[in-house]
This record gives sequence, structure tokens and C-alpha cells, in this order.
Amino acid sequence: MSLEMSSYLSKLDETVAHLRQHAGQAPHLALVLGSGLGAFADELTEAKRLHYSQVPHFPTSKVSGHAGELVIGNCGELRVVVMSGRVHYYEGHPMSTCVFAVRALARWGVEQFCITNSAGGVDTSFHPGDLMVITDHLNLMGSHPLLGGNIDELGVRFPDMSHAYNPQLRALLCSAAIAASLSVRQGVYAGLSGPSYETPAEIRMLRAIGANAVGMSTVPEVIALNHMKRKVCGVSCITNMAAGILEQPLDHSEVKETAERVKDDFISLLRHFVALVAKQGSRA
Ligand code: HPA
Repeated sequence: MSLEMSSYLSKLDETVAHLRQHAGQAPHLALVLGSGLGAFADELTEAKRLHYSQVPHFPTSKVSGHAGELVIGNCGELRVVVMSGRVHYYEGHPMSTCVFAVRALARWGVEQFCITNSAGGVDTSFHPGDLMVITDHLNLMGSHPLLGGNIDELGVRFPDMSHAYNPQLRALLCSAAIAASLSVRQGVYAGLSGPSYETPAEIRMLRAIGANAVGMSTVPEVIALNHMKRKVCGVSCITNMAAGILEQPLDHSEVKETAERVKDDFISLLRHFVALVAKQGSRA
């Protein structure tokens, strides 16, 4: 193993030791909250909050709408860990940094992950405020979190991505939507690097190649977690229609406003999802 790889692994283990010391055993489920979707973290009871700057080697983000806090607490019956905020590739971090936090949670022992994001609607039948269960993704970020020497301790060189978004967890998300009386969409998430929003021509291309939504996150984390053989599912909050669909220009404030508007639906979906995961665990 190269020096760089072994130092990355040592850093992961230092982070895990810190998490063990301050939060004990790893919860079974982690939820990563996207732009403006941090309110779910306030729902947890008996919560222990760790700001990313307090966790060794955890990268911190400067994007507005991203708190940068790890919250470990109870959601109903189940103890969960919530990542409120993440770092993005467009901030200039290497991919390995973008996936550091989820890798640390997985190495701590978290088995299941629900990754959320704000995304633009590429599918013209979508509306701002829709929630989309991610069925699959297109990696169009121009990079990959597993480039370079493989860290065998984390996973194999050529990981399978046939069920990158775990069918059982996806089914639980759909059942959670029914239980919460919400209608959700399902579709393919295209991950691009950003930070500019796409051009209308790019959006037409994305639609032609099978994307339903577009965003600037999630894909690296989902790849890194599949590498580590973790079960992953994802939800996009469609905060705006993608470029060229409506007349109006795209603006980050619209993303934040829509995320704020659907906050209650989003929280309700995640709450019901966590309850179903808890029920499934108690049956297993
Ligand atoms: N494009 C890319 N990323 C996004 C969008 C979008 O339209 N909306 C929210 N995140």
C-alpha cells in the first residue's frame, strides 16, 4: 500500500476512534442531509451533536445551507446518525476528501445509508417540491472516488454497481411515502461537478440519456459506500426545474426556498422510513 493510502486509512481509523469515544457503538443507519434539508437533525431526541470541526479529519464545507454537524440520536425507536451538510467536489476538494465522512461512518460500523440531496428536475413531468426516490445514477462528474490505488481494506478493485441503490431500502422508502400519505417520484439522478448550473443543451442531453434529476453530490458517496459493501438508498428533493425548462434563470436561493417549503414532507418521509427500518431490523 502506498504511503498516501496508508495515511488515509490511519486518518479514517483516528476518526472512528474519536466517534467511538464520543458516541459509542455505531448506529445501524446513517442519513446524509442535502442543501437546506438539515431540519431533520433537529427531530432527534437524546441527541449528541458533533460539529465537523470537532471530529478529527472531517472536512468542513462553506456552502450556505450546509451546517456541517454530525448528530447522533434517536428517531422514534431507532438510534441513527445524521450528517447535516457535506463537502462538495466543486469546492475543490479531491474526491477522496468528499467521501471521507461517509467512509468513516461505514468503518465505524454503520451498515445502511440514506443519502439525500437537492436536485433540479430534468423530467418535465416533475414539479419543484417533488421528492424522488433514486433508482440509479449517472456519474458525469468527470472524476471517480476510487481513482488511484485501491485500498483493499475498504473494498475490491472493481466493485459491482448493479444495485447501487439497494432494492429493499428503496422499497422501504416507497412504503414510507405511502404511510406518510406522500406521493413520491422515482428516477435516475445525474451527478455533475458544477458549480455552474447546467445549460439547456446539457439538460436536453441528460434527458436523452435517461436522467430524471440532476445535482452536484451523492454519486461519489454512493460509489464509495458500494465499494465498502454498505446498503444505500437516496432521495432527491426537486427544488427547481432544470435549466431551459422554464423561462426563469436558476438561483441558489430558489433551491433553499423550495427545500424550506417541503421540509415537513421531507421530515415525514424520513421519519416513516426510519420507523420501517427499525421494524425490519427487529424482525431480522
Ligand atoms: N442543477 C444541479 N444541481 C442542482 C440543481 C440543478 O438544477 N438544483 C439543485 N441542485
